[in-house]
Amino acid sequence: MSLKMETPMELRKFVVPEVVVGSASSLLIGRYLNHFGSRKAMVVTDRQVREQDWFHQIIQSIEEANISVFIFDDATSNPKDYEVMMGSELFLANDCDVIVAVGGGSPMDCAKGIGIVSTNGGHILDYVGVDEIRLPGPPLICIPTTAGTSADVSQFAIIADSQAKVKKAIISKKVVPDLALIDPIPLTTMDPYLTACTGIDALTHAIEACVSNARSGLTHVHALSAIRLIHQHLEKAVQPNRSMESLQALMMSSLHAGFAFSNASLGAVHAMAHSLGGLMDLPHGECNGILLEKVMEANFESAEDMYRIIAGEMGIESVNMNLEEVKSSLLHRIANLRRNIGIPDYIPFDAISKQQLDLLTESALKDPCMVTNPRILKEKEVKDIYEFLFQ
Ligand SMILES: [Fe+2]
Repeated sequence: MSLKMETPMELRKFVVPEVVVGSASSLLIGRYLNHFGSRKAMVVTDRQVREQDWFHQIIQSIEEANISVFIFDDATSNPKDYEVMMGSELFLANDCDVIVAVGGGSPMDCAKGIGIVSTNGGHILDYVGVDEIRLPGPPLICIPTTAGTSADVSQFAIIADSQAKVKKAIISKKVVPDLALIDPIPLTTMDPYLTACTGIDALTHAIEACVSNARSGLTHVHALSAIRLIHQHLEKAVQPNRSMESLQALMMSSLHAGFAFSNASLGAVHAMAHSLGGLMDLPHGECNGILLEKVMEANFESAEDMYRIIAGEMGIESVNMNLEEVKSSLLHRIANLRRNIGIPDYIPFDAISKQQLDLLTESALKDPCMVTNPRILKEKEVKDIYEFLFQ
């Protein structure tokens, strides 16, 4: 007797790196570099991270494994194309064979860019778009030091085009790291606003993955786990007396959200945040936090059932509510969370010129994240949201 499938399963792929989670996992770096046969590792980081005690312990772990280290600490927030190009030259000139990214999303994205260019040549912006990279780069190990960007597990690298002042997305399986060492210890030195921005970024990843046109059963499970953990822990994790439990929960929420959005992609919040962050050089998470409610409001009717499920994960009993009530309660809950963690509800600039508004809108509409938004936003809608948030 043959098995007959009534409903064919939708074709979906799910890509993740090797992940080691746990306290002090970052100190396994020397052992893993030996597994990769490394002789000289390039560590990509930024200057704030380089000052931390735990950073020195990571370097010590590499040196104790008899592996040479070259430190590149020129990655800045919203990593720029020229930083990637400089890093690639140094990677080749110093004869490095593995890249270790230690930092938040910016050093990790910069490290991904260095891997692409050092192997494929050309300019980093040649690889913007989906699946434009020909050859895989050198092994890449990520040690995230914030809980939210999930660049340590994702198929995304976001690089700023410094001439055009636009952040551009490179999306490819070839930028998924080979290994992520997920250690909560570096989170203990994150300041409250960085914790807030990276936390709301993770929440946005999870919500956008949940309502994405490319979602699947696998991404859904991870997205919901992330939303639940962020709802329970983010507000506590920005308090001065925060516990290790809250920080660990945020780290896990970031990991779950990363698994979800790396495979389901994102939506209009990220498309608009990339454009805004590129033009104004604002923190990525802050841009997402400012945009999230307005985009959810615009999307709501196109993914009503999913937003009802999200509301449930954020503690809203919606069984007896009609959809208008669910929408209002969920937006209210997110606004409260945003306020409680100190993220504003407006873009922190007094005014915007018509030319800047046109540029923001045009870049957002071209961003690959817009493709998986649950509905196609019209040019006027995108412009209206930006305009409203500048007031
Ligand atoms: Fe993000």
